[in-house]
Formats: sequence, C-alpha cells, structure tokens
Amino acid sequence: MSDSSSLHVVVLAGGISHERDVSLRSGRRVADALAAAGHQVVLRDPDAGLLPFLVNERPDVVFPALHGSSGEDGSLLGLLDALGIPTVGSGAAAARRAWSKPIASSLIAASGAAVPQSIVLSHESFRELGASGVLRVVREALQGDLVVKPATGGSAQGVSIVTDSNDLPRAMVDAFTYADVVVVERRIVGTEIAVGIIDTGDGPVALTPVEIDPTAGIYSFQARYNAGETTFYAPSRLDASAVETVAAAAIHAHATLGLRDLSRVDFIVDAAGVPWFLEANVLPGLTETSLVPLAIDAFGTDAATVYSGLVQAALARSERKARS
Ligand SMILES: Nc1ncnc2c1ncn2[C@@H]1O[C@H](COP(=O)(O)OP(=O)(O)O)[C@@H](O)[C@H]1O
Ligand SMILES: [Mg+2]
Repeated sequence: MSDSSSLHVVVLAGGISHERDVSLRSGRRVADALAAAGHQVVLRDPDAGLLPFLVNERPDVVFPALHGSSGEDGSLLGLLDALGIPTVGSGAAAARRAWSKPIASSLIAASGAAVPQSIVLSHESFRELGASGVLRVVREALQGDLVVKPATGGSAQGVSIVTDSNDLPRAMVDAFTYADVVVVERRIVGTEIAVGIIDTGDGPVALTPVEIDPTAGIYSFQARYNAGETTFYAPSRLDASAVETVAAAAIHAHATLGLRDLSRVDFIVDAAGVPWFLEANVLPGLTETSLVPLAIDAFGTDAATVYSGLVQAALARSERKARS
C-alpha cells in the first residue's frame, strides 16, 4: 500500500474532443491543486502513448480532467478499469448513461423527476423521413420556444435556443455538426442552476448550488469561457426551499445514473421552484471560470482538499476491490 499522504497521480487533460482547450485548462488547475496538496503529479495528454505509459508507470491514481469523448463517453474509463488503475470519477457504464443526454433524461424521467419534454432524432431518420415533415411534427408536439442540442458533447457547442420556428432547420444543422443524434426539447424559463456533487467516501454531498446569469441571456460557449460574460451567484438568489429542492434533485440524479466521486448536474428552476433536469456531467469543467471550483469555494472548502480527497477515495476503492 502506498503512502497515502503523497501519491503519484497522473492527471489526464487535452485529447482530441471539441473541448480540448477547456480540458487543458481544467487539467492544469487540478494538477496545481494536487501538487499543492503534496502529491507527485504528472500532467498527460491522452494520445497513442498513454496506455503504454500507464502500464509502465503504474501511477497510484489517474485523475481524468477530460471533457467530451473519450473521457466522458466511458471509453477511456473502461480501459483504465481493465488495466486495474485506480481512477477518480464514475465508472464506464455510468459515464455512458450520462454522456447520452437522451438516455440520461429518460432514466431521470422514469425516476419521477421533472425533465423537459423532448423529441430525439437521428440524422438518418431526418434524411429518411424528410426534414420538413419531421419538423412540422416536432413544432406541433412541443410548441413554444425550443432548445436544440447534440445528444452528446458539452460546453453548449451546437446548442441553440429557437424562439422563431423558422430558425429550427438551421439549429438542427448546427447541432448535427456535433453529433449524429439531436435532441429538440421544450425551453424551460427560469433560473439556471448547476449543482456540483462530491463524494470522498462518506456518500454524495451537494456543494452550494450556483446560479448562472449570462449577460447575453444564453449560457453559450463564449459566456462560459470569457471572464465577465456571465455573473455567477454562489449561493444563488433562490429561496431556501428551492435551494434545498434543487440540491436534493442533484443528489437524486447522481444516484439514479449511478455516478461516483464527482459530478455536476444542471437544472433550470422554474418560477414554482421545480428543478427541471437538463443533464449530468461526469467530468465537469474545472477551469478558473468553471462552476465546480466556484461551488467548492462557496461551500467553504478548497480545491486541494477536495481533489486530494477524491484521489484518496479512488485509491481506497481500488484497494477494497483488490481485497474482495
Ligand atoms: N430545456 C432547456 N431550457 C432552457 N435552456 C436550456 C435547455 N436545455 C439547455 N439549455 C441551455 O443550454 C445550455 C447547454 O445545454 P446543456 O444541456 O446543459 O448542454 P451542455 O452539455 O452543452 O452544457 C444550458 O446551460 C442552458 O443554458
Ligand atoms: Mg450543461
């Protein structure tokens, strides 16, 4: 067993997903925080040399700070598990459930929680059935303002809010650039809230829910990664009972999807205080402008303590597994 006060940790960041730059920023922050906590940290890009490197290096723990495919879609997590390398975060199967927004939404809806009504369309079905006929049914079924988004991916890439139904075809084309399956769902009006969940071994804890108020009204890619384009409130301006409800809904979603260690669940809370589930992220952004680091501060702890706790928990889990 390793000396748990100083572990050899490989932080994975970069990759070839659309969110490479965001991941590099997340990875740098995680590596700095873990080094500050006294760990020996190597920052590594997932490339063709990664798996041989890990087999050779045998780090105590891997901390994937990857966004988008192959980190969030479960591929790499399954390989790390097959190699028996202790890894922070959800397992591969849970990652796959969260990675697909339609699958996650169906599971959360089946559990009885509020999920915006949606229609999910593959690129193929769109071509086969003809765009105009499909979109007519979509408009009639969902009515009102819509949100169009790729079924997989993040950072709001390919996401459009459609307030004029003439803009729906364009929004579909944009979303299909990022994925072969697209979700069209009802736009929920309310307060956007993100809830970070941390579990360092004593069960999942909801961090302070963070309210997101983008200057331009839409929490777009630009609004996310340029300082000053979004005002964050941590704690949020919601009343105490709505805060409690959204925190409980986040824990419920984390558990329903079978997530582990760390996640972030996104909601829109409507005027009645109902939290509408948008999505869950197994490897949430950890950059200097990201929500989870902000929530960690608001909760009264710090990144070094939390990430170090996650690393220790991942190692302890793998040691328990090895003994059983
Ligand atoms: N049903 C919805 N109603 C209102 N806004 C939404 C809805 N779905 C998504 N959004 C907006 O789009 C953004 C991105 O959508 P989300 O599903 O969280 O995907 P991503 O993985 O890109 O973050 C959200 O942060 C929110 O601002
Ligand atoms: Mg989101």
